[in-house]
Amino acid sequence: MHNPDDRQFAPATQRNRDPILAILTQVLPSSGTVLEISSGTGEHAVFFAPALAPRRWLPTDLNPAARASIAAWQLYAPAANLHPPLALDVRDPVWPVETAANLDFDLKDSPITAIVNINMIHIAPWSACLGLMAGAGRILPAGGVLYLYGPFKQNGRHTAPSNVEFDQTLRLQNPEWGVRNLEEVVAVAQTQQLNFVRTYEMPANNLSVLFQKAGE
Ligand SMILES: C[S@@+](CC[C@H](N)C(=O)[O-])C[C@H]1O[C@@H](n2cnc3c(N)ncnc32)[C@H](O)[C@@H]1O
Repeated sequence: MHNPDDRQFAPATQRNRDPILAILTQVLPSSGTVLEISSGTGEHAVFFAPALAPRRWLPTDLNPAARASIAAWQLYAPAANLHPPLALDVRDPVWPVETAANLDFDLKDSPITAIVNINMIHIAPWSACLGLMAGAGRILPAGGVLYLYGPFKQNGRHTAPSNVEFDQTLRLQNPEWGVRNLEEVVAVAQTQQLNFVRTYEMPANNLSVLFQKAGE
């Protein structure tokens, strides 16, 4: 059983959730299921799900402690359209939503129309970005949306001194981590038929980055 005491707290989620929601409200398809990759504590999931109904919100994370926190947040703040967290490592060649394993609803009734990934690709090896794009390419229908949020370099340069420092801190924690070049992320997305649409400037020198699956 999950326990509300398993809830973890990431203070940044309280600061970025309103600006992110404002963008999601504009860019997400109006129906279907939003697959959240790397949901972390689950604070975003419990905040976004009720605000974005009737879409379904499906949180996931690689880390069991994160999944326990997401489930605990769900106990604390339930929403009818918020589903239990799935174990999902973006680097896996098949994601659980592709086999519908461990799902409490039928994806045929509410197909995945969008994938949301906040603050992961710089706090994970580059292989996570490659896996994310490959999975989004396999799963999203034509016209489906991939939304990324985080700090990015543009044209190989940091966009703010605070991001230089953050990048150094990340690389000290793990040499495979680091703030990514937007152009490289866009190039990988393109190989999976995910067309770059636009960026949105966000607080604290972050970007929202929007992609759309080709075919519509
Ligand atoms: C900095 S946290 C961000 C969590 C949340 N999205 C937020 O904004 O608070 C990064 C998350 O990425 C997850 N993660 C790292 N590598 C991953 C992978 N290969 N597949 C899926 N999730 C991954 C971690 O478990 C962690 O929850």
